[in-house]
Amino acid sequence: MCGIVAAITNGLDARASVLHGLKTLEYRGYDSAGMAVHTGDSKLAVRRKMGKIANLEAELASNALPESDQVIAHTRWATHGAPADRNAHPHTDDGGEIVVVHNGIIENYLDLRAELVADGHVFLSDTDTEVLANLIARHMRNGNGGIDLHTAVRTALTEVHGAYALVAMCATEPGTLVVARQDSPLIVGVGDAAHYAASDMPALLHLTRDFVALENGESAILHADKMQLCSASGDWIERETTLCDWTPEQAEKGGYPHFMLKEIEEQPDVLARTAFDRFHDTEGDVVFEDTFTLTDADLRALRRIRFMAMGTSSHSAMIGRWLLAEFAELPGETLNASEFLYSPILPENDTLTVIVSQSGETADSLRAMRELQKRGGRILGICNVQGSTLAREADDLILTHCGPEVGVASTKAFFGQVTALYLLAIRVGRARGVLSTERGLELLHDLRTLRPKLDSLFAPEAMAAVRQAAAFLATVPSCLFLGRGLQHPIALEGALKLKEISYIHAEGYPAGEMKHGPIALIDEHFPVVVLATPDRTYEKMISNIEEVRARSGKVIAVGVAGDQQVQNAADYFLPVPEVPPYLAPLVNVIPLQQLSYEVALALGRDIDQPRNLAKSVTVE
Ligand code: G6P
Repeated sequence: MCGIVAAITNGLDARASVLHGLKTLEYRGYDSAGMAVHTGDSKLAVRRKMGKIANLEAELASNALPESDQVIAHTRWATHGAPADRNAHPHTDDGGEIVVVHNGIIENYLDLRAELVADGHVFLSDTDTEVLANLIARHMRNGNGGIDLHTAVRTALTEVHGAYALVAMCATEPGTLVVARQDSPLIVGVGDAAHYAASDMPALLHLTRDFVALENGESAILHADKMQLCSASGDWIERETTLCDWTPEQAEKGGYPHFMLKEIEEQPDVLARTAFDRFHDTEGDVVFEDTFTLTDADLRALRRIRFMAMGTSSHSAMIGRWLLAEFAELPGETLNASEFLYSPILPENDTLTVIVSQSGETADSLRAMRELQKRGGRILGICNVQGSTLAREADDLILTHCGPEVGVASTKAFFGQVTALYLLAIRVGRARGVLSTERGLELLHDLRTLRPKLDSLFAPEAMAAVRQAAAFLATVPSCLFLGRGLQHPIALEGALKLKEISYIHAEGYPAGEMKHGPIALIDEHFPVVVLATPDRTYEKMISNIEEVRARSGKVIAVGVAGDQQVQNAADYFLPVPEVPPYLAPLVNVIPLQQLSYEVALALGRDIDQPRNLAKSVTVE
């Protein structure tokens, strides 16, 4: 939530590269955008505009900022203060000496603001960030010229409660940017005679692939040619850079009209990248990298497994719970990470908690992780972003290799997570002696042969069927998604995708619940999307379809190509290839993603940046 980009170079104008990076981060919020530069003559210049970055670009075209080798920028997801020009970042102090971009929430900002107002400070916005700028300025002024920007930032932050990632720049201290973080993500990019900062790596991939992640409480002084990293306790520390294996092209649309469409179509490759190199083809097992330190003995000692996540990731977590029960006979539970904090459940020594997160920065998931770690729990992270907070702080880690996901509605990240969870189930099942070598080999074979089967989902006939169903769905105000067993999380995910990007009300239900309430909604205008591929729930799903039809409801069914029973019963039929039932989630989710995409397209929605949402929810 909120995206930050900053650059300091050795004389090279950084405005264009910072703007480019900011656009890559637009998925983090699009309520307003702004940029500030150091003008080199002890002055700062700022431009800010409500709405998307395109509005800022238009402003910069007519009212250009001076060239500068010191640039900070921000794209906002509003928390404190409505979307408006005056609430857009960067914010300056009332003397125009300090300028700040910030992601997070300063919880005690009203108290601090009252103090500052009593001190004579004047505020122009409703934001908590303007308080930070004035607080830093107050410390610099009180220092009688003896306090530098970094010291002033660190001192100001001792008074602040809440979460922040920030970059500050000072008119009278050219050649310096100061960055700091607590609970909101911030990474530093190391370039050739340049340093950069950003909320997420994709923003800087066109400039560098060498990164240093800041830990909680740390701050840094960035100059063009060096970075001084300061620990939470105030000591200067050294940290090696980490090389990011994402490429700049992966963060671009590559000719697609939307990132979401590109990311849906990348899923067969995600299967290969996340799974295939980890197969142990003689043992029928899976070999994870050394970030996964759970030994066979650790896995055998487990009695329970708990999955926690938010949003789409919580749907893959539900599938993970099912797979671990099925293939490793390890019972478990899935919890919403934000609810966990209020739950009376305590970790037992023989419980492993798996936190699933695309970004590795979701505030609720991180808070749940830290709370459990405090209680002595062991955390396995499943995450797409190398170097993210989850990736760094989890006790064990499985990276999904999806590449950067930019569309706000998650697609390929879900696919990568479910793939990783299959691998985990096989590994744990083998370690616990539940799966034989032969069964392990069969499961690996099923995964490997899944990839070519996915092609049919992108064939013209399949897409035509999706478009027909979408044309109808785009005309309704509300609909239901039903699935049983392993298909229940897919029903939830299908409904989430539809509401996120088309704004059509959709609910996912376990199909057995239909008769306990939702059936009252069904009439000749009401559509029900059913997942009816062959597994042990198939007959019951057919009954559900008939019950919908008996009330004249419209049925959109996902079924195996050639399944006449389902096809004849449905008003719209979305064909999928036949796969072993346990792999059906990976297949069935794709037409539902495509369906949402096509509905949103038909309705002219902003597919990659749906209203009110942000890709990375870094506040609770
Ligand atoms: C936001 C995103 C979702 C995502 C969820 C959890 O709501 O819009 O797409 O599923 O956060 O994010 P995570 O990065 O933890 O998977």
